[in-house]
Amino acid sequence: MFTRRRFVQGLLAAPAITQPPLLKHFAGISAEALSARLAADPLRPQCHLLPARNWMNDPNGPIFWKGRYHMFFQYNPGAAVWGDMHWAHATSPDMVHWEHLPVALAPTPGWADADGCFTGSAVDDNGTAAILYTGVQAVPAERATLRDGAHTFRETQCLATSRDATLQKWTKWKEPVIQPPPDPLLTGFRDPFLWKDGAVWYLGVGSGVQKQGGRALLYRSRDLRSWEYLHPLASGQWNGKENINPVDSGEMWECPDFFALGGKHVLLYSTAGEVAWETGELDAKEMVFHSQRRGLLDHGAYYAQKTQLDAHGARILWGWIPERRPDTELIAAGWAGCMALPRELSLNAAGDLEMRVARAAEKLRGRSLGKFEASAGAEKKRSEASGVVIEGICGELVCTSSAEKFGLELADGAGAWWSLAAKRDAGTMRLTVNGKNIEFPSPAGAETRCRVILDASVAEFFCNDLHVLTTRIYRQPQGALRLQGNPDDVAAMTRLEAWQLKPISKDRLTA
Ligand code: FRU
Repeated sequence: MFTRRRFVQGLLAAPAITQPPLLKHFAGISAEALSARLAADPLRPQCHLLPARNWMNDPNGPIFWKGRYHMFFQYNPGAAVWGDMHWAHATSPDMVHWEHLPVALAPTPGWADADGCFTGSAVDDNGTAAILYTGVQAVPAERATLRDGAHTFRETQCLATSRDATLQKWTKWKEPVIQPPPDPLLTGFRDPFLWKDGAVWYLGVGSGVQKQGGRALLYRSRDLRSWEYLHPLASGQWNGKENINPVDSGEMWECPDFFALGGKHVLLYSTAGEVAWETGELDAKEMVFHSQRRGLLDHGAYYAQKTQLDAHGARILWGWIPERRPDTELIAAGWAGCMALPRELSLNAAGDLEMRVARAAEKLRGRSLGKFEASAGAEKKRSEASGVVIEGICGELVCTSSAEKFGLELADGAGAWWSLAAKRDAGTMRLTVNGKNIEFPSPAGAETRCRVILDASVAEFFCNDLHVLTTRIYRQPQGALRLQGNPDDVAAMTRLEAWQLKPISKDRLTA
């Protein structure tokens, strides 16, 4: 693979990239046979973006460009486990249906990104598309900024630009544009995000200080090439636990993002396996964020979030849905990871971050499987509910209830695939979703609005636009999923609707 990479003096030309090589673990199997196997894997999502094979992680540089959405993401072209990070590229008219394009960024041997093109952002620089990303290069531990027990990488912020309308050709700037601060307590230096204020670009980098906590370090520039360090835009807390990998102890923030929304500012970051949101005020004079409210973006399998503005100016959240099974099973499956569906962000009156699956995802809805409103009689509710039979683990269900206690289950021939139990006690609602609990304040009689999208091994669940849980389910399915609920619970529901979802590609390869 390395022979395909070229190093050009001065500007670095992006290597010509052809089809990714076959997984090394599947050497001996033809490309067709491997694709056929992946296309027949019932646990591979059909409505979520994922590469045709191999490993993916973080969304990178999502951008609406010349009338189309472009998504890049961390991708290993050689295996279904993490490593050798490239930027894969897909494009879409609507953020839901995708077409894969050749890899956009690949490591350049001998250069600052020789060991990986890590996460970053894409912006419109007066008609030229620009990517700011983290290049990593293996170095001795004393020069490294990333030390996680397995790797010693030096992280620098790199620039690539494109004047190609389809964003397929990228040219790397001759040298990294930001070197890491020479601070021995630095816990990492990666995943830049940007915004522009007048003629000035601001860039934040995910970082942190040992035994103190995560940081977003703020820089300023007029040309995206020459950057001046300002100070931390935001600072977090160490969780007090010693850990070899500072990401596991809140000492390092990955993939921070920062933007204005609903009259406030929102900070997002990934650390210790979770994504945190904070809302508050940006002191525009000091350029420091003051946090007022905070919470968890998703209680389940969701990481490395990144936002963009859609064609209508709405703030769209993307995230990586990681796997919850061991590497040996990923290698055997030949694929790992997928992109969560786009979620539109807003703030509620209290200043909490709300999210809804973006409107565009309603295009996935096919045949209606059942529907009733509050006014329906008990018999109608029962018969509509019993008609909810989801084929191929690819469906959506919404329901609303004001009851103190209710539950439902979507079950195949082997039992519950996905289940919800809700119980309100003394003003606290407890939801148990596939065994995982979420609690939140809920006065007696308040509505609980639920929505779940099931797509093979992925279930994205939303409650009242505030409490979100993405689950992974790996059991081999046995037939269709039927809605099973206590008849009294069903009768007490004020709304129910379910749809069969339409796959975004004919063969689970999302190509
Ligand atoms: C988050 C992350 C980023 C990094 C990338 C490498 O999942 O660790 O911090 O840039 O993945 O693939």
